[in-house]
Amino acid sequence: YSLAAHNTFGIDAGCSRFIEFDNVAELKSVLRQSGNITEPKLIIGGGSNLLLTGDYAGTVFHSAIKGFTCEPVSDGVLLRCGSGETWDDIVALCVDNGWYGMENLSLIPGEVGASAVQNIGAYGVEAKDLIYNVEAVEISTGETYEFSCAECGYSYRHSRFKGEWRNRFIITYVTYRLSSVYKPCLDYGNIRGELARKGISEPTARQLRETIIDIRNAKLPDPKIEGNAGSFFMNPVVPRSKYEEIAALYPDMPHYTIDENHEKIPAGWMIDVCGWKGKTLGKAGVHDKQALVLVNRGGATGSDIVVLCEAIRKDVRDRFGIEIHPEVNIV
Ligand code: EPU
Repeated sequence: YSLAAHNTFGIDAGCSRFIEFDNVAELKSVLRQSGNITEPKLIIGGGSNLLLTGDYAGTVFHSAIKGFTCEPVSDGVLLRCGSGETWDDIVALCVDNGWYGMENLSLIPGEVGASAVQNIGAYGVEAKDLIYNVEAVEISTGETYEFSCAECGYSYRHSRFKGEWRNRFIITYVTYRLSSVYKPCLDYGNIRGELARKGISEPTARQLRETIIDIRNAKLPDPKIEGNAGSFFMNPVVPRSKYEEIAALYPDMPHYTIDENHEKIPAGWMIDVCGWKGKTLGKAGVHDKQALVLVNRGGATGSDIVVLCEAIRKDVRDRFGIEIHPEVNIV
């Protein structure tokens, strides 16, 4: 079965078996019939954070569970969404209905299920700030579980679903808690600058969404035109002493304070300083407007991208003494 349409890098790879379901009963019945699946398993969403390095010798699961239900609560709504819904459709729905909190996560590619695995984030907001609970089916038993946000163990681009629970659960529904009170988060990156350029100082939720979409479109390549998986690397968190050592050499280095002993340094900036922005190696390249994004220049294999990834990691290590790690799931 070809996975070409299931990964935004546009890598032409296949898998032994592909299982798609559009409701929980169907998923459970498939799991019962296939018995205890012992061969390798991979659970995918929109494939927007996935790099396939070859054919996958195992079963790939994809949720096509759609739909949402909305329950009013004192200060807003609980919105329960099928894991196969497209993430940005949910953001648009919320903005249209005055359910606030997701505006800054506009236009992130991918699906609802992955938002809860990956703790997607952008412009100062993370999915974990909105997730109320996550429903999932355990592959080995077919049992349904419901996890509170706290139980999912969220941190920067991480959750238990990526860690100790990897490949154990298939997420079926995610419930988000949205607010009826609009509290825009404008202090990250160039949001205010972009709003000012449009002559807006107090944006409505819709204007904020449109501004985030403009910022992303200006910096991030469209996977339909050039295959990519968004940020390829995570931003490393380093001890303050390390940060000060580098800051002494690069006074203009952007950084985010994590706590009194740690700073986060943008990997994109380091890759840019290493001279990789816009460069091509084989059929893989570094996006010319955001060095954190690796792209398929056309016909690249997963290995082409991995070779570029390792060349970049080596240069960052040699120049800054910092190890950067892929954010993308390399399979
Ligand atoms: N920078 C450069 N050169 C570059 C890229 C970045 O100098 O080529 C500098 C920028 O000027 C800025 C800093 O590095 O001062 C940070 O750049 P940016 O604001 O573009 O954000 P990022 O840290 O590179 C993260 C997320 C993005 C998210 C943006 C905005 C990660 C791994 N990535 O990128 O998420 O959209 O912040 O919040 O945390 C994704 O995960 O796929 C993704 C796109």
